[in-house]
Amino acid sequence: MITFATMARLLSYIYPITKRVKSEINGTLEITWYNGKKHLNSKNANYSYGSLQRILKLGLEKLDLKNMNSILVLGLGGGSVIETLKKDFKYQNQITAVDIDPQIIAIAKSEFQIESSENLNIICDDALKFVQNTHETFDLIIIDLFIDLNVPEQFLELSFWEHVLKRKSASGSILFNASLEKHTSEKLEHIISYLNSHIYQVDVYKKVNQTNTVVVGKSL
Ligand SMILES: C[S@@+](CC[C@H](N)C(=O)[O-])C[C@H]1O[C@@H](n2cnc3c(N)ncnc32)[C@H](O)[C@@H]1O
Repeated sequence: MITFATMARLLSYIYPITKRVKSEINGTLEITWYNGKKHLNSKNANYSYGSLQRILKLGLEKLDLKNMNSILVLGLGGGSVIETLKKDFKYQNQITAVDIDPQIIAIAKSEFQIESSENLNIICDDALKFVQNTHETFDLIIIDLFIDLNVPEQFLELSFWEHVLKRKSASGSILFNASLEKHTSEKLEHIISYLNSHIYQVDVYKKVNQTNTVVVGKSL
């Protein structure tokens, strides 16, 4: 018997099939079957399982995940980086994922089968509050925080980055998917020089997938 999901996947090679969901935090979200794959988009941006997933994968390829035991994902979205970690990098250790939007967390579960389990702890919280309040440290912190096309201002302030570095284990790394909007680029330069003066190696990859800037920071 052909299920609805199979039919939608097949039809999506001919034309995209979209379902819209309203979120108070992220505006109208679109779950779209396109060329046989389901994506999560906001009004103007791909959130998960499209170019965003490729961008984060490129960042992850610059890191050695072999000795990592704990990963913090700030910005769960539809959870595509979790799929990448598990399927492409065979990462099986602990992941904690934080998102401010309960609607997004529900979509990750119902549309993409990303839900809390033994190795995955999904927390609905503001990422800034989370890094301020937690005492845990992580071997990798992935910062992928957007509302539509923009990184919210508080995540471009050095006070947020101070907390991020406190939550990074001694040998830990960070992966930051940064925006390229003109007004944020000066703040991004401040973040990069702050990271440069606090961690061993910082690499900046510009125009990843023709668009985003990705920052990878590694400890010794
Ligand atoms: C591009 S999506 C993340 C995609 C995800 N990393 C993936 O791999 O599929 C950006 C996410 O950041 C979340 N976000 C925005 N502001 C936030 C905040 N203050 N605290 C926590 N999450 C936030 C949004 O709700 C959205 O789900």
